[in-house]
Amino acid sequence: MPKAGLRVGVAFGGRSVEHDVSILTGLQAVEALSERHLPVPIYIDRTGAWRAGSELRELSSYRDGASGAGQEVLLDIPRGRLLPSQERGGLLRRGRAEPIELDVVVLATHGTEGEDGCLQGALELAGLPYVGPTVGAAAAAMDKLLTKAVLSTAGLPVAEWMALRRESFERDPAGAAAAIEARFELPVYVKPATLGSSVGVSRCAAASDLADALTLCFELDRVCLVEPAIEGGVEVNCSVLGRPGVEPRASVCEQPIAGASGGAGAGFLSFEDKYMNGGKGGGPAAGAKAGGANPAAGGTPAAGAKAGGGANPAAGGTPAAGAKVGGGAGMQGAQRLIPAPIGAEQTAEVRRLACRAFEALGCAGVSRVDFLIDAEGAIHINECNTIPGSFSFYLWEPSGLPFADLMDELIDLAFAERSEKARTTRVFETSLLSERAAAGAGSKV
Ligand SMILES: Nc1ncnc2c1ncn2[C@@H]1O[C@H](COP(=O)(O)OP(=O)(O)O)[C@@H](O)[C@H]1O
Ligand SMILES: [Mg+2]
Repeated sequence: MPKAGLRVGVAFGGRSVEHDVSILTGLQAVEALSERHLPVPIYIDRTGAWRAGSELRELSSYRDGASGAGQEVLLDIPRGRLLPSQERGGLLRRGRAEPIELDVVVLATHGTEGEDGCLQGALELAGLPYVGPTVGAAAAAMDKLLTKAVLSTAGLPVAEWMALRRESFERDPAGAAAAIEARFELPVYVKPATLGSSVGVSRCAAASDLADALTLCFELDRVCLVEPAIEGGVEVNCSVLGRPGVEPRASVCEQPIAGASGGAGAGFLSFEDKYMNGGKGGGPAAGAKAGGANPAAGGTPAAGAKAGGGANPAAGGTPAAGAKVGGGAGMQGAQRLIPAPIGAEQTAEVRRLACRAFEALGCAGVSRVDFLIDAEGAIHINECNTIPGSFSFYLWEPSGLPFADLMDELIDLAFAERSEKARTTRVFETSLLSERAAAGAGSKV
């Protein structure tokens, strides 16, 4: 367990379609950290500007979809601290504005620029320890195509797939739809390669659905992934804790319930199912509007409206004995059964595969590995989220790890990763420059 009283930066928000959800995850982490540490909320707004300050921990300050609380700051590379931005050249130099020092950073930034290696890269340059995988692993896990490549190479079970590029779709839209039909029987799932929270995901049951689904997908991403629908069974998720080189630990499994929101996404897990607590959820996530800046909630034309429904037999079913239906805010607010009522054997296999996927991708910190189980009981790894909603704390609590302890464990993992990095030599001493300088005439190389 790390010593108490650490200055823990908690980054959330960001230029991502998951901006709103990330605020919820971030504020949950700030609260859990407050028991033992000094969390510093760092809000990255929709333009990419950073703000810091304790006022940012108030959910009410995001009522209009963003917060102007706290002060604008810049990440100081390579010193690893935050500088009040307007003070940089003036007040700071004259000693009137204090830089904000950080010991470690917790990333609660879901999706683009926050979960895909970008922010991780900035923190590497800043020399700050941070929670989560390093740049390469974060990028691989965020990109569904790279994830498929890594997991299938490791011999792990994934659904079949094909990838389409925006440029080729724009050149020949009919050809793209025909290629999908030639490869797979419908229904298929069409999804952006690098998004999350079901944004832009469509289930296409008829050939006439494909054009809309692809158009939507390519508005949101450059690469689109198409998969046959894995249906008739259940979806289950399992969270994993660890870091490369150390045997990871799996949490209890959950079965999220599709269609519980009664919203547009009935039939598969929609944005509303995931975050909006039966469609009635409060907080920033509820502000996402169809057709608005955030295309998430119900705004996916092909997605909700044409979803076949009823694919998940557990939707609306009676929870198995002992399973709890969750409630609350953020990812934690979705309807789910914990533990997933899939039997001891399948549970053990899901947990084993979750650890192997975590390991194959080189994950660190806490991830959530999501699975699709078909009607025959075959298990497919769907994806790995390296910054899972609510840090999956609702899966760790019933696994015997309270949220505050989970945060401490994540901080420990961040420091361990930092130490491991420090063991790698970056210096390669040569006489190249002195020899060149001695031999060279004048200043030319
Ligand atoms: N091949 C598939 N078969 C059945 N359902 C799928 C398939 N792919 C995605 N889904 C459904 O769509 C949801 C979102 O897709 P997912 O691949 O998890 O993307 P995201 O990163 O947006 O969560 C899943 O939770 C699942 O309900
Ligand atoms: Mg998913």
